[in-house]
Amino acid sequence: MVVENVVLSAAVARLRDSMTDAQGFRSALSTISTIVIFEAARYESVIEAPISTPVSPAVGVELTNPPLLVPILRAGLGMLYAGLSLMPTATVGFVGLSRDEDTLTPSCYMASLPESITGRSAYILDPMLATGGSAAYTARLLAERGASNVTIVCVIASPEGVRFLQDSKLPVARIVAANVDDRLNDVGFIVPGLGDAGDRQFGGL
Ligand code: PRP
Repeated sequence: MVVENVVLSAAVARLRDSMTDAQGFRSALSTISTIVIFEAARYESVIEAPISTPVSPAVGVELTNPPLLVPILRAGLGMLYAGLSLMPTATVGFVGLSRDEDTLTPSCYMASLPESITGRSAYILDPMLATGGSAAYTARLLAERGASNVTIVCVIASPEGVRFLQDSKLPVARIVAANVDDRLNDVGFIVPGLGDAGDRQFGGL
């Protein structure tokens, strides 16, 4: 699912622009994350709950089963607080992956996830879906813990990465993106993309 919104498009342009510094990049990523996670969350179920306004009793709603948010470190961290602002009762797991520059396969340097997430929805947060290997690795970790409803929320996806995940047997219910770009280049970067989302947020290692 590609989210369409002019405010989103303008923020994505700022994110792509190589003249945007780290502070501007983090700010644009936060704006974009709010919009794409908001769209992804429309599939959450709610239950009615009684509340009292200053004027009278009323009926509100709350999320039936708050989801698990899983940013893929490092770049996914820039999406986390937007998710927590939208869904304050969500909990958070962390997966740290770095992609080998030659093989383009992810290697995992940390995973902090609940033992069981059966019956809960989970959102993988990562600005970039390139080959799809990092998202697939994380979806597999979640599936091993019982997840059957995983949403991948990203900013820029490649057509190759989307196809890879759609063809997988992983429990990916949907992919929500601000844009699907043209292609991957021969070193695994999305074209036109935005470069390395981790380095652009946090500086090079
Ligand atoms: C980048 C990016 C994604 C991943 C996408 O991370 O932030 O996590 O690669 O590639 P894929 O879809 O081909 O797996 P990187 O390994 O550069 O780590 P970083 O977030 O720490 O910069």
